[in-house]
Amino acid sequence: MEKIQRTVIVDALKRTDYGAKVNIKGWVRTRRGNKNVSFIALNDGSSINNIQIVADIAKFGEEYLKPITTGACISVNGILVESMGQGQSVEVQAEEIEIYGTADNTYPLQKKGHTLEFLREVAHLRPRTNTFGAVFRIRHHMAMAIHTFFHERGYFYFHTPLITASDCEGAGQMFQVTTKNLYNLKTNEDGKIDYSDDFFGKQASLTVSGQLEGELAAMALGKIYTFGPTFRAENSNTPRHLAEFWMIEPEVAFFEIEDNMQLAQDFIQYCIRWALDNCKDDIDFLAKMYDHDLIERLNFVLANDFKRLTYTEGIEILKAAVANGHKFEFPVDWGTDLQSEHERYLVEEHFKRPVILTDYPKEIKSFYMKQNEDGKTVRAMDVLFPKIGEIIGGSQREEDYEKLRTRAAEMGVPDKDIWWYLDTRRFGTAPHSGFGLGFERLLLFVTGMQNIRDVIPFPRTPNNCEF
Ligand code: 4AD
Ligand code: MG
Repeated sequence: MEKIQRTVIVDALKRTDYGAKVNIKGWVRTRRGNKNVSFIALNDGSSINNIQIVADIAKFGEEYLKPITTGACISVNGILVESMGQGQSVEVQAEEIEIYGTADNTYPLQKKGHTLEFLREVAHLRPRTNTFGAVFRIRHHMAMAIHTFFHERGYFYFHTPLITASDCEGAGQMFQVTTKNLYNLKTNEDGKIDYSDDFFGKQASLTVSGQLEGELAAMALGKIYTFGPTFRAENSNTPRHLAEFWMIEPEVAFFEIEDNMQLAQDFIQYCIRWALDNCKDDIDFLAKMYDHDLIERLNFVLANDFKRLTYTEGIEILKAAVANGHKFEFPVDWGTDLQSEHERYLVEEHFKRPVILTDYPKEIKSFYMKQNEDGKTVRAMDVLFPKIGEIIGGSQREEDYEKLRTRAAEMGVPDKDIWWYLDTRRFGTAPHSGFGLGFERLLLFVTGMQNIRDVIPFPRTPNNCEF
């Protein structure tokens, strides 16, 4: 076959130099036609749109075209021609076709529609569907938006470790990292596991958050962000939780909670605008297939400030709702954590826009949050979104050495694990704030998908570690 420089389909579809010789490579979505001509819809992942390849039977012969079935991979040399068909501007009149790989009728993605549940079982192939092509292109764009947002504002991308010996959130949801023989563990006199001969010489785990190390960096570089995988062994089988998810954590010296809230709003709005500007075809497709209000919801978030109120005010609103006959599954009580149904009531029914709740009771938040004068609450902030619930969690940090140390001890985080973190408060401490955005929660919002397993290529959840 003649060697011609490959054109990716997203570019080919924009060309108007009809008559040009092109090479297109991709995977067959469908092949149909009659006894004279075959129409092959080809997709190479560069766009949701296929290009149509027209192959004359007389030229290639029926037998040669037969293995070009759904899922096969081919390379086509041909002439770019103006298309007569509806909804496409160009097509390719094939002159030579090379078959790279066939796909027989056991290929799971035959032409018919598939449920998202079924597609999770073939996660190794689902990126080849329109839906997951769209989702993963949007995922890429959101990563680019995030790096661009921070870079343009003078933040430094800082790499925090994935293996750690401290529990940032103090919630005991860590996966252990060990090279020990789990069937033959050495224990000490009290029957506790002796880690001294383990790989790191002590107990080690996968991180639940890069925040503590991020704070160290903010106390040196001023404005930083992290963007990496985090791990939580929480046994929650919900459409919003993963055992392995990606988190973005900005941390900023001299920021108070108000600055932090503004950053959170600007940041999310920037990402959504990027999606609307750069992922239009994919978002249009997802809106049409899954969520007719998607674009309206994205524009709405761009156009409206997030409503800011305290946890205590939020509880009052929820109690008033209960008094007016609204039924929640879980009770509403000052001091308990809000359930997703409570968060969504505030966002979707009461304020009808994103909400930032602040000043939570200290008992339900982590040890590092700045304590308020009232002795009861801390300067926490959660950003709550329609359909998602919590999308961001963050706070102003406790910068006072004694208060921080006391609170950590009270919450069962020993000095020996975080002495290095406490040191930032001994040497040149400063007010500072930060937050964590769950990348997949953002993607749920931007794509309109309902289940977090459908916005990450290979989801890790309880009892699921396939692929
Ligand atoms: O609220 P979280 O636990 O906050 C922290 O980890 C802080 N260290 C962040 C910081 O202040 N730097 O988690 C932050 C966000 C949540 O709001 C949520 O969007 C997401 O991470 N998240 C999860 N996403 C998917 N699956 C899970 N199991 C998640 N747990 C939290
Ligand atoms: Mg949280």
